[in-house]
Amino acid sequence: MDTQPGTVPPTAVRGIPPLAGLCTFAEAQRSEWSVEECVSALKRLHYLFRRLHEVLTQRITSEPQFELKTAYSLHAYLCAEHVQALRGRVSEMREPPLGLDVVPHAALQLLGDELRKAPTTLEFVAGVYVVVVPALQVGIAESIGRTNRLPDAPSARILRFAALELGDLKQFGVEALAALRTAEPTSDSHLFTETLAACLAAAGGPLGLQPETPCPAPKHSVQPYVYDRVPKRDSRFQDSYNAGVNPEAFLYDERFQPRDKLLMMLYKRLREIDVPEMMASILSETSGKPWAFTLDMSRQLWDEARHSLMGEVGFVSLGLDWTQIPVNFTWSLNLNTQLSPQERHAVLFFIEQGLMPRTGKRYEWEVARESGVPLAGVIQDFDWADEVLHAQLGRRWYVSEFKDLKEALAYGDACWSRVMSHWQSYRDQGLTGHRNWWPEFYATACATQGIEPDPAALAFNTTYAAVRADLKEIAV
Ligand SMILES: [Fe+2]
Ligand SMILES: [Fe+2]
Repeated sequence: MDTQPGTVPPTAVRGIPPLAGLCTFAEAQRSEWSVEECVSALKRLHYLFRRLHEVLTQRITSEPQFELKTAYSLHAYLCAEHVQALRGRVSEMREPPLGLDVVPHAALQLLGDELRKAPTTLEFVAGVYVVVVPALQVGIAESIGRTNRLPDAPSARILRFAALELGDLKQFGVEALAALRTAEPTSDSHLFTETLAACLAAAGGPLGLQPETPCPAPKHSVQPYVYDRVPKRDSRFQDSYNAGVNPEAFLYDERFQPRDKLLMMLYKRLREIDVPEMMASILSETSGKPWAFTLDMSRQLWDEARHSLMGEVGFVSLGLDWTQIPVNFTWSLNLNTQLSPQERHAVLFFIEQGLMPRTGKRYEWEVARESGVPLAGVIQDFDWADEVLHAQLGRRWYVSEFKDLKEALAYGDACWSRVMSHWQSYRDQGLTGHRNWWPEFYATACATQGIEPDPAALAFNTTYAAVRADLKEIAV
């Protein structure tokens, strides 16, 4: 006989994890932390992540090492995402006004101020990855260990995600530090990290749960901080003022084949390291914007660093040595030193908007697909997707300050036209000869791939002397 539904309850199965698998009954009975104490801890973590984001971003432009420059771009973005998550969680916990701009402890402020004035790369890397990142790890472990993981499950969730990525940062930092110490055996970072550790101790640890010790005197931060907006590159980047080859002119010339255009596209990708160098200056020299602006710009900054890395991988995949090519840095140099932060943003948006039409990112993707190198198609496909996002971010944060898109674009165009390329003066000063590096590199690439060079491509000799990247005439 059939049982009517509901008349006989199914037998309770033993062994299925209780409490939605969230934690044990013992953990769910903790009563150490109230909402107030939890919020206090989250605010401290928020402050540390925010300062870490800030100091990493401020260092991107002037850090010469390519691997560090790109890693700071990623790590700053990850910090921004965790700042965002923590802000969201604090806002859920009866906290209006949120007070997220309040410095939770003067010694934590000193910690950030000293860190951004780190005199050397070694000291900066040690400070970030040996002091601040581990402090965040400790603070998160303490938070998850003290809060009740059932009622405060939303906090525990975002903290676990943060811990996962902090582990990646720590691993990177340990390896980078070992490499820096090997490269500079006489350099030392102990005194510097000791000062930072003393700041942390003076704040009672990351969450203020330990007894506070006396605060050390400011050392490097006695003098005010000055942002260094001049981009720097390591020794692999030779002849950085060289603007002797105009890859856009090659890319849009119908005489040339996709397989050859691919080399110019990979060069353009790799050269994109100048975008983080420029965007970091916008973030470092702009104040008064909402946090969402910083988050979006940090995402875009990392995307551009990633595009540069994609170019590097493209050359590696073809067995080509990219250090033989001058990777020009005068775009970030000229924008950073000649324009205001808002004008730089205007130029960025104007260029990115120009990437969207038929001749832009879709065209690059089609060329990549026809190049015969499958990886190139993947690189350009995702690059295109990122640029669509960037155009949206530009509309949100840049166009919104103008009457309409047309006016915003006209301003961007005008700002870019005002930038002096100094093509001639860089040559007159002996900073570059604007050598046409293309024929030699192209010939090597053909030999490496076992293909015959196209004589027309080999003869390409268009510089940036009179034409800028969108093929318009430029100020010199
Ligand atoms: Fe890009
Ligand atoms: Fe972009």
